[in-house]
Amino acid sequence: MTEPSDITRALRAGIGTDTSAGAVIPPIHLSTTYTFAGFNEPRAHDYARATNPTRELLADAIVTLEGGAGGIVCASGMGAITTVLLAMLKVGDSIAIPHDCYGGSWRLFHRMAERGNFTVHTIDFTDTETACESIRRLAPTVVWLETPSNPLLRITDLEPIIATSQEVGAKTVVDNTFLTPVLQRPLAMGADIVVHSTTKYLNGHSDVIGGAVVARRAEDAELCDFWAKTAGTMGTAFDSWLVLRGMRTLPVRMRAHEAGASAVAAALREHPAVRTVHYPGLPDHPGHEIAARQQGGFGGMVSFELFGEAEVRAFIDGLQCFSLAESLGGTESLVSHPVTMTHASMSPEALAKAGLSGGLLRLSVGLEDPADLIADLQAGLERVTGL
Ligand SMILES: Cc1ncc(COP(=O)(O)O)c(C=O)c1O
Repeated sequence: MTEPSDITRALRAGIGTDTSAGAVIPPIHLSTTYTFAGFNEPRAHDYARATNPTRELLADAIVTLEGGAGGIVCASGMGAITTVLLAMLKVGDSIAIPHDCYGGSWRLFHRMAERGNFTVHTIDFTDTETACESIRRLAPTVVWLETPSNPLLRITDLEPIIATSQEVGAKTVVDNTFLTPVLQRPLAMGADIVVHSTTKYLNGHSDVIGGAVVARRAEDAELCDFWAKTAGTMGTAFDSWLVLRGMRTLPVRMRAHEAGASAVAAALREHPAVRTVHYPGLPDHPGHEIAARQQGGFGGMVSFELFGEAEVRAFIDGLQCFSLAESLGGTESLVSHPVTMTHASMSPEALAKAGLSGGLLRLSVGLEDPADLIADLQAGLERVTGL
């Protein structure tokens, strides 16, 4: 038989490997400490902040999916991002970030910069030519990318940005939370590091806060592992076990999320109460061609704009199949208002620069029947029309 694919190997991570009882599903190792075989004879594991068999099983599965040389599992997406910053940047260094990155990342980058940890440069990476010029001029230590961006789903053309970053010796980090390795594999495009909030699609059931880092080179993975152990940003065994369970259905879920999101985006754009729909799968989305080339699908996130906050209120009050909540990537559909929720920590100037208006709504399209989701959205839009 030919070698199984990365997806098959990741989905079968740990299956049938238990030697104590022959369990098909690998057990959870909750113990914080491990016996030494004898005096000065440590085994593979000694203390669970440093290593844990369940966490390593999940890390290996994510590394396999992303095609990396090594990786670590963290306590949250922000824990993963913090670990990468600790590993890659020292005082005097600089980081180039997207002007519309996830609000929590934006806050971390800026608060650390204010304390003198490093300098932040904000770049619009969707304008490839200007972004490459800025990278050449600024020569940052790290280039941080997030594509599709949150919440406007703007697309960054990864290959030229990564190639230019390599020219100036910058490390590239891609936040791959929105697409997962099923739909986008940045390391194969030359990125150095991928980070995830596993809280989202990788776990997929909205019951774990978690994160992960995967590196293309073993030495970068080892450096991140060192900082995760040292700073204590690693994930717990129980959460790792749950994420591993969730990931076993990842490819099927991603296809269903995408089918629902495409149908929702197409329906939204038909309605006069909707000003704009942002979904990379729509042929007139500015990043559509790049997305079609560099992604294996368009994902499950859709955002759209109503004409103002009064419309937003009328639309949200009365939704049946979308819960008003932060986060994304679960089986259930969610709606969020980025300006007052996920991106509330951004300054008004930064919101304006990123193009985030009070009429913007973001949908995480779940696995419910798309016909029900569309009917619910259309009822909301009728409330808006009746204002
Ligand atoms: C793109 C992206 N990256 C990182 C994070 C942070 O992840 P966590 O909430 O697991 O810390 C989020 C959270 O929403 C996100 O959307």
